Amino acid sequence: MERRDFLGTLSAPVLAACAVCMGACSKSGDSITAAPTGVNFTIDLNTSLTFAGSWLAQSGVVVARLASGNTAGSFTAVQQACTHEGVAINYDALGTRFVCNAHGSVFNTSGAVTAGPAPRALKQYSVSVTGTTLTVTG
Ligand code: FES
Repeated sequence: MERRDFLGTLSAPVLAACAVCMGACSKSGDSITAAPTGVNFTIDLNTSLTFAGSWLAQSGVVVARLASGNTAGSFTAVQQACTHEGVAINYDALGTRFVCNAHGSVFNTSGAVTAGPAPRALKQYSVSVTGTTLTVTG
C-alpha cells in the first residue's frame, strides 16, 4: 500500500492522536533527557566510591570519584540521562569523562559536551563531604 493510500484510510481521530504523539516524542524538551530536580542523597564513603575512578548511579545521577581524598573536589555528579536521547551515560575513568555508548556523545567531568550529538551539557549537581559522608544535591 502506498503511503498516500494508507493515510487516506486513517480517520480524523486517529490522525489527531498521531499528531499528539509526534509532538510528545519531539527531542526538544523531551522528558527522557530531563535532569532530575530536588536531588538530595548521601553516600557512605567507607563502602562506596572508595577509589579514584569508581562511580555509581543513584536517583538519576551519576557520581564519580575523580581523585583520592574525601573532599568535595574529589567528586563530581551529573545527570544520568544523556541529553541526546536519554540513554544512561557511564563514567570512563581512563578518559576522565562521561560517555554515552548509544551514539558516542562525550562530556567532561563538569558535564559539558566535548563530542556530540548531545545538544547540551549534563546538569551538574553540588557535592559536599562531611567526614566520610558525601552529599549530592541539586
Ligand atoms: S542517547 Fe546519548 S548520544 Fe544518543
